[in-house]
Amino acid sequence: DAGKGGYDHYMLKEIYEQPTALRQTIRGRSNQLDGRVELEELPPGAFSDVRSVHLVAMGTSYHAAMYAQTLLAERGITAQAFLSGEYGSNPPPADDGTLVIAVSQSGETADTLSAIRSVQGTGAHTLALTNVVGSTLTRECEDTVYIRAGPEIGVAATKSFSAQVATLILLSERLSRDVRGGTPAATGDLLDALSVLPDDVQRVLDESTAESVAKAYHDSESYFFIGRGIGHPVALEGALKFKEITYDHAEGFSAAELKHGPLALVTDQTPVFAVFTGRNDTKTLHNVKEVRARDAPVVAVAADGYREVDDYADHVLRVPDTHHDVAGILANVQLQLVSYLAADELSRPIDKPRNLAKSVTVE
Ligand code: G6P
Repeated sequence: DAGKGGYDHYMLKEIYEQPTALRQTIRGRSNQLDGRVELEELPPGAFSDVRSVHLVAMGTSYHAAMYAQTLLAERGITAQAFLSGEYGSNPPPADDGTLVIAVSQSGETADTLSAIRSVQGTGAHTLALTNVVGSTLTRECEDTVYIRAGPEIGVAATKSFSAQVATLILLSERLSRDVRGGTPAATGDLLDALSVLPDDVQRVLDESTAESVAKAYHDSESYFFIGRGIGHPVALEGALKFKEITYDHAEGFSAAELKHGPLALVTDQTPVFAVFTGRNDTKTLHNVKEVRARDAPVVAVAADGYREVDDYADHVLRVPDTHHDVAGILANVQLQLVSYLAADELSRPIDKPRNLAKSVTVE
């Protein structure tokens, strides 16, 4: 218990450590004066020959990889996230223009190590993005970038996701600069948003109304999480966290998919969490109207300034207005709190959910 620092669970402690973790992640890596990202562990121009990026990961790390896929695509870089367990068994074509980024908190996940081994001999460049210094992944990849989240004990990953995404934002900027031949890619707005991200997360933690949401709905048996763009992996992560620690059925999907099947399951008994990461997400707002027409309770996660959702949601979990690229980190913190508080209402063994391990070292 001493290690929990007064919190009931490691998971809650780690949720509250996120402002500190993110300060560590970003420290010295974002030069606001000249609008550049500095990742000193990577040689200058390391990625100038990259033509496409494969991201391989499992679990929560896979959701961070999906998030990065969108960030890279927005920067004109061809990128695809793969479940490493699939990639290792059926590797897609890779060559000396391919950068394979393995995202793994522990650096020990067998599926992800196997994915990296599968590209040996293809000429692909390999990069580990991990939290654990000296982990197997760092020894098997050519380069490593650490996420610097600090030790994570709770089986359900929390602060490592936020630190992974923040690091992937920095890496996307660096890749974009290398691929374009030296032009700084970072917009001042993005670096400004990263610099205040730890404070923004602190504000979410201080002002969250997640407890009222957890109290209202923890007796439901099924939950849906929807979002678009970077909101999609955040929805998937919200559902994963929820099922891992509450043991209730929770399913995340792209809001675009709603009409193509999941809507058949939406009733007044299925709370729907809708993740908004921008102010013009009118399509997701339309999806919210559709589930509301089926009497489903709606919980929106939305920016302070996005008031249009108020008329269609039973609860709105607010996050500070920020740059689109970092908004998903803030939304995810709200969903972490809901999962934790709902699991606590249900007296689940939050730090050690049944059947799950912090690190899965067999394929
Ligand atoms: C296990 C853990 C998850 C984690 C996944 C990948 O399934 O329970 O929390 O996201 O492994 O772990 P990694 O260490 O590779 O990020």
